[in-house]
Amino acid sequence: MRTQVAIIGGGPAGLFLAHLLRRTGVDAVVLERRDRVYVEGRVRAGVLEQVTVDLMHRLELGERLRAEGLVHNGTNIAAEGQLFRIDMAELTGGSTVTVYGQQEVMKDLFDAAESRGVRVIFDAEDVALHDIDSAKPYVTWRKDGVEQRLDCDVIAGCDGFHGVSRAAIPAGVLKTFERVYPFGWLGVLADVPPCDHELIYCNHERGFALASMRSPTRSRYYLQCGLDEKIEDWSDDRFWDELCLRLGEEAAARVTRGPSFEKSIAPLRSFVGEPMRHGRLFLAGDAAHIVPPTGAKGMNLAVSDVVMLAEALSEYFLDGSEAGLDGYSARALARVWKAERFSWWFTGLTHRFPDRDGFDRKMQVAELDYIRGSRAAQVTLAENYVGLPLV
Ligand code: FAD
Ligand code: DHB
Repeated sequence: MRTQVAIIGGGPAGLFLAHLLRRTGVDAVVLERRDRVYVEGRVRAGVLEQVTVDLMHRLELGERLRAEGLVHNGTNIAAEGQLFRIDMAELTGGSTVTVYGQQEVMKDLFDAAESRGVRVIFDAEDVALHDIDSAKPYVTWRKDGVEQRLDCDVIAGCDGFHGVSRAAIPAGVLKTFERVYPFGWLGVLADVPPCDHELIYCNHERGFALASMRSPTRSRYYLQCGLDEKIEDWSDDRFWDELCLRLGEEAAARVTRGPSFEKSIAPLRSFVGEPMRHGRLFLAGDAAHIVPPTGAKGMNLAVSDVVMLAEALSEYFLDGSEAGLDGYSARALARVWKAERFSWWFTGLTHRFPDRDGFDRKMQVAELDYIRGSRAAQVTLAENYVGLPLV
């Protein structure tokens, strides 16, 4: 088999890239290790930046998003039990974010892939990259016990943090930067109305909490928890009690309790591998970088990477220019590092760090109080939260 771009991984990065290339007439094949039900079923991101919303519409995938997505003009921060609102739209000249789950995004991408001839091969086992620093790279895998091979001009590594693409870059070439946080997020989904029409990010003595949602009837809540904690120790009752404590009286009074149907713990990590290119391999999304979830940047960064990569690939295949490919890594990393900074800062501002002391806590409280009272600080938060422009 032969194609122009072999895309490893059928998550948001891989599928958005495949759709973008399809529209410009560049040939691509996506190789995904799991099946569609698994990829679509993963409960992950929930907040889309304007960049992601715009791309859905540009790809004519935005019909359900327009009908069901919840546009948020503002977000809330609770500190020391008191709530204040960041009016993102007013502070940024009209920018907003949209609540629409990653699962819905994946459903829209997969549904349209079938009808538009975007090729996705599921259940591709033991995917391996070959000759990435030659002009004739290729990919091999096994499907239904049969060895397969795909010859290509370029490989796009969109296979997430634990994929094989980043590992194909020689150790001496790839520089990595990492921060592992000493806590995780315990996340719950429940079919109960959200406690607020916007999100609430909450800094509390007992740890961070986040009130989010997926729809007017489905709530998504998170609690900071220890890395050694077990899901079995978190009954629904314990979760709701702890959530209400951390949210403070005002928001807690509006929490509707109900049975959870999803509960999981995710670790928090900042990670960047650079450069995002080696020879004919180009990394995008979680394959190249991870942010802690505070601020909801992960999926949106995967999207901005592949918008830039698709532009570079179109330039190469349609105009014969390598300039875009040569500039891809530096261009993408400039935006990635700013989102890394924001996610790291917002995590530091809102979480309890077991190794920090009373002074650090006072600094957090002072900074939150400063943000509450300063338009300049709120503009900084808002413009990062809604997403920095693609340049
Ligand atoms: P992924 O979504 O990881 O997709 C990679 C794909 O590659 C997967 O489908 C995988 O099966 C496939 N793959 C892996 N290895 C191979 C291989 N060897 N061969 C072929 N295919 C392979 N972001 C937010 O903004 N908000 C959140 O609340 C949030 N919560 C998260 C919770 C968890 C538990 C995790 C892990 C992430 C969360 N994120 C969140 C981050 C966000 O989901 C990711 O940033 C986003 O999914 C990145 O998309 P991606 O396509 O780069 O990678
Ligand atoms: C969600 C996750 C986030 O990390 C965040 O900052 C906001 C919302 C969510 O899953 O809804």
